[in-house]
Amino acid sequence: MTAPPAPIERDVQFVAGDGEIDLTWGHPDPAFLPADVVAEATATVLAEHGWETLSYGAPAGPWTLRNAVAEHLRRGGEGPVDPHDVLITAGASGGLDLVLSLLARPRDVVFVEQPTYFLALRILADHDLEVVALASDEHGSVPDDLDRRAAALGRSDPAPTGRRMFFYCIPTFANPTGRSLPAQRRVDLVTTARRHGVTVIEDDVYRDTAPAAPASMWSIDPRTVIRLGSFSKSLAPGMRVGFLTAERTTIERIERCGVLDSGGGASHFAAMVVARLLVSGAFTTIAAGAASRLAERRTALVGALDDAALAFPVPDGGFFVWLRVPAGVTSGQFTAAARRNGVLVADGRPFFAGTPTGEHVRASFSMLAPDQLTRGAAILNETARSFG
Ligand SMILES: Cc1ncc(COP(=O)(O)O)c(C=O)c1O
Repeated sequence: MTAPPAPIERDVQFVAGDGEIDLTWGHPDPAFLPADVVAEATATVLAEHGWETLSYGAPAGPWTLRNAVAEHLRRGGEGPVDPHDVLITAGASGGLDLVLSLLARPRDVVFVEQPTYFLALRILADHDLEVVALASDEHGSVPDDLDRRAAALGRSDPAPTGRRMFFYCIPTFANPTGRSLPAQRRVDLVTTARRHGVTVIEDDVYRDTAPAAPASMWSIDPRTVIRLGSFSKSLAPGMRVGFLTAERTTIERIERCGVLDSGGGASHFAAMVVARLLVSGAFTTIAAGAASRLAERRTALVGALDDAALAFPVPDGGFFVWLRVPAGVTSGQFTAAARRNGVLVADGRPFFAGTPTGEHVRASFSMLAPDQLTRGAAILNETARSFG
């Protein structure tokens, strides 16, 4: 029997340990979380909006923030976005949970990429969904595989009483690979999903982590795709503010749900502060700073890793590099050896819904300064060579 996990008796999820180079966590660097700017925006919001900041919020989120998000997406190249198609959530995790609570039933099917974000798999499990991993090639999930599997399910479970189908994906600066799906692959996946009545849930949390993010899958077909956005990666995860964009009927369905009717909009106080940061332009400065720091760190880690010892796709953005461990070594063995040498990386196995290959580990470059990343990379190179 395994012992139950110890209770967490601190205020935050993670505190950095001493003496190790920890590349496991996909969090923004605590040293740069913008406490002063948030304090100033909070004071301004309270002074200007008083009781409205502290009351129950509008179920779909503050109108100011829905407008500001729409404008932010438009400026990012998404075309005109109607604020009625935006709903504020408690981060992307809260958005995913809300969407599944309302649109999915136990035993419904959700297709996933492999690898995919391991904690999204936890949320899918919370909803008792059947998870089906799609085949992938060098560009990402294979549309023909989605076509084949969705067609087979549609035949065995025809609508309207049959199981619903979803496709959860991270097409932009993915966790764990840092890669983005090419434009044509996005179109092919969305078209295939639409043909089979599959709802695409596009996890878009890394959009602001690097410049020139590709257009979202939602912008290709807002009737088929629900996009989950977040301010966790570019502003501060503790604010618990994210959003989703979806077609109007979906937004209205979610807006009328019990939890938002009873409790008001998600994270209302923080949402009012985020609205202020967007409207004042402070968010643009914060996000640009985070993106340029991430670019510097990505360059430091990628530049110092030895591709011959640990093959990896060069990340387009995001927080991570996805490393292939040397042939004949398992990800568990590699992770343990790296730990003995003072570097922590995440074993890649939990990122697979199907049988994991055990060939990968994930290294994050979001938390540490470039010199530590360079040192970490040197140790990882050495660890890989020690198996040779
Ligand atoms: C792909 C992905 N989705 C969602 C999240 C969590 O987002 P949020 O903080 O907005 O709930 C993360 C955080 O690591 C992530 O990597």
